[in-house]
Amino acid sequence: MTSGPRRPRVFVTRIIPDVGLDPIREACELDLWTDPSAPPRAELLRRARGCDGLLTLLTDRIDDELLEIAGPELKVVSNYGVGYDNIDVPACAARGVAVGNTPGALTETTADFAWTLLMAAARRLAEGEAYVKAGDWTAWGPQLLLGSDVYGATLGIVGFGRIGRAVARRAAGFGMTVLYQSRSAAPAAVEAALGAERVSLDELLERSDIVTLHCPLDQETRGLIDAAALARMKPTAVLVNTARGPVVDQAALLAALRDGAIAGAALDVTDPEPMTPDDPLLELPNCLVVPHMASASVAARGRMAEMSAANLLAGVFGRPLPTPVLSR
Ligand code: DGY
Repeated sequence: MTSGPRRPRVFVTRIIPDVGLDPIREACELDLWTDPSAPPRAELLRRARGCDGLLTLLTDRIDDELLEIAGPELKVVSNYGVGYDNIDVPACAARGVAVGNTPGALTETTADFAWTLLMAAARRLAEGEAYVKAGDWTAWGPQLLLGSDVYGATLGIVGFGRIGRAVARRAAGFGMTVLYQSRSAAPAAVEAALGAERVSLDELLERSDIVTLHCPLDQETRGLIDAAALARMKPTAVLVNTARGPVVDQAALLAALRDGAIAGAALDVTDPEPMTPDDPLLELPNCLVVPHMASASVAARGRMAEMSAANLLAGVFGRPLPTPVLSR
């Protein structure tokens, strides 16, 4: 009796939609982490050993220690998401391991959600809901829960990649002035189409009524929105973060919100994640926190599953990744 070629061994670190899991199951020897929480570090290391491919989430740290333990069979790390700050890409490069992500799968979904948060923060939605639920709603009041207009306001977009630009596109319907800050200028045609002006971060912070973050987390952006940055913002301005928690210095944000240096914040991402229930930010009425859900639509999560599976399968079978961060 002859046995066929060895099926690639892969570890998938969470249950993803079937549209991604099914093709992996068909082609590979699948080890699937079925718990809703991320695999603890020791478990991640143990299960990575001897794998040809890993399908990982932003909660899985892929560093040199892991790559060493995984061993020489490892060909690809496919991240289920567009951000890949959980992966030490140079370490993967040094070991010839390809890295993939899911650009484009969640652009519009995340931009929708950034708008959800910016409208909520500017118009004090969470405070209004809490007020009603607390039984405090006794009468309509001329001064009750006054927020800021979004229509006609100045929107400051930090990071002007796919998602930042999708956020800018939506601003046209709100008659907004759009400023952006990014390492490189967008093509003139893009700026013209979006009516967006590139300015320095300082100018953006000083002029914007709403500041929304869409930059990747890296050495340059870690702590970018610190006490000095927050002090430049208008006292009536709100900050929205759907990028990565560590882009904002949370202690500085807490102080700024408490002191009225800015009017409000809405955070989809925090540092650490999950935010602990005793975090002082959760006590502030002008801070809305949700659990990293900007890409959480059925369609976007399906697209992320398809793309991350396609990268994983390409990698383990020695083909070029459809959406590589790093090729082998
Ligand atoms: C990403 O893809 O980077 C998001 O943060 C999770 O969808």
